[in-house]
Amino acid sequence: PHVAIIVVAAGSGTRLGAGGPKAMVGIDESSILRHALAGVFRAEPAQVVVVAPATHQGDALTDALAAAGDRRDLVTVVAGGSTRQESVSAGLRALWPDVEYVLVHDAARALAPAELFARVLDALHDGLPAVLPALPVIDTVKRVAGPRVREAVDRADLVAAQTPQGFRRDILDTAYRLADHEHTDDAALVAAAGHPIAIVDGDPLAFKITTPADLDRARHLVAPVPR
Ligand code: CTP
Ligand code: MG
Repeated sequence: PHVAIIVVAAGSGTRLGAGGPKAMVGIDESSILRHALAGVFRAEPAQVVVVAPATHQGDALTDALAAAGDRRDLVTVVAGGSTRQESVSAGLRALWPDVEYVLVHDAARALAPAELFARVLDALHDGLPAVLPALPVIDTVKRVAGPRVREAVDRADLVAAQTPQGFRRDILDTAYRLADHEHTDDAALVAAAGHPIAIVDGDPLAFKITTPADLDRARHLVAPVPR
């Protein structure tokens, strides 16, 4: 395929505090990673690179093969690094030669729907070099200095960034090669290399499972409707 989706799942999940890597934590009988991959395999056929904790590559492969159904041939599992950026780098090194477009997705955004992947891919296929799904910021946001408010920040100028973020492969490869410090996400790293980033509508279901409260929310969302 000319598309690859890198799913970064190598983080330790410090803020979740589940006592093991976050991607392997169950939402229901299925892990965060397994749920994330369900959305991935409902998008258009793509090489799927799962970047797993070095200690859990076997579990990640089991989840990936279960999610892949009859497309097991599309699955690659590699070990991640000590930062998200290093983990994405490891994923990039595993891309097949024919890949032209790359989506980078946080496994922690386990419930991101297939439609969101399609929206980002459509924008890439339309010729945009870098695509960021984002949502408006709902809360009023303040800039602070220590314990005091300095000013309100105009919400109209702000969006909340999500994943999957999509890029032309050549641009993402070059930007990663040029990167000389940690960036907050792939879009920031690609912007630092001088490329414009286009925005498409995000999806509330693509929220990131970060804290125990986020995991509770995900559990409620996947729970069967009582009848
Ligand atoms: N990630 C990764 N490799 C790392 C760090 C993060 O692949 N060294 C991945 C995580 O697995 C996650 C995504 O990047 O899917 C977003 O990171 P985050 O939500 O911060 O996850 P963790 O770093 O695991 O959590 P925490 O920051 O609370 O430790
Ligand atoms: Mg983290």
